[in-house]
Amino acid sequence: MEYESILTRKENGVGVVQFNRPQALNALNREMMGEVIDALEQFDKDPEVGCLIVTGNERAFAAGADIKQMAEATPVDMLNNPFIDYWDRLQRISKPIIAAVSGYALGGGCELAMACDMMVVSETAQLGQPEINLGVMPGAGGTQRLTRAVGKALAMEMVLNDRRLSAEEAVRFGLANRVVPVESYLDEAMRMAAEIAARAPIAVRMVKEAINAAFEMPLQPALAHERRLFYMLFSTEDQKEGMDAFIQKRRAQWQGK
Ligand code: CAA
Repeated sequence: MEYESILTRKENGVGVVQFNRPQALNALNREMMGEVIDALEQFDKDPEVGCLIVTGNERAFAAGADIKQMAEATPVDMLNNPFIDYWDRLQRISKPIIAAVSGYALGGGCELAMACDMMVVSETAQLGQPEINLGVMPGAGGTQRLTRAVGKALAMEMVLNDRRLSAEEAVRFGLANRVVPVESYLDEAMRMAAEIAARAPIAVRMVKEAINAAFEMPLQPALAHERRLFYMLFSTEDQKEGMDAFIQKRRAQWQGK
């Protein structure tokens, strides 16, 4: 598949999607978001891929939704625009997605990174929801995923006062997994992703589903859901292989079956 605004590659079982609008600090326009979701869905179906990475460049992960494309929009334009619906499709990707974030991750950029499953940030990362400066508010999860991650007080401050988080704060407040020097943030994300891609694929997908269910379901049904997924894994060849390999003191060979 040929794309205009993103670059894609496949390496060590990892599918990488890189925003490629550096002249606009990777502002997320309709066309680029469409390509991002398409590429992620293709990788999700690809049996050679076990984990996904979304990234930008050193200066900007993404500086938000494309303001120039939205400036003249009416509510009906926004309603008919698939832009925010793309985040719903992102949620349906079954393989884990790591956001590798350097530089600006603002507005829709921060929302996209938060919609991924893990986040590796470079020392230069700056995360924020500055939409209030434009006379609007976050519209792709910035009041919801942010609040669930950092709590009400800080979410209010970030959205109302345009309080931005440094890389170190993003880790401290639970948005990101780790801070890495700018030269190696993508390598570190690749390392984590390749490790996941080498694991039992069905178990990996069930883990993602179960942990994300913690944000959607009350505790008791979520525990029952977790238990059903756990029992279901006993129907896979990989469970037999994993436990046999442990007992025989050898390395497991995962089949994804
Ligand atoms: N949309 C469109 N273009 C953008 C953009 C955006 N979100 N962010 C940056 N750009 C463009 C600039 O217009 C500029 O283009 P030109 O050279 O053609 O003028 C280019 O990228 C470089 O940007 P700057 O010259 O502004 O670079 P800077 O280093 O001086 O500042 C910045 C960097 C602080 C990130 C600044 O660009 C900025 O504040 N950007 C907007 C951030 C923002 O408000 N994001 C939220 C968008 S709304 C949203 O995301 C809604 C939602 O919830 C879905």
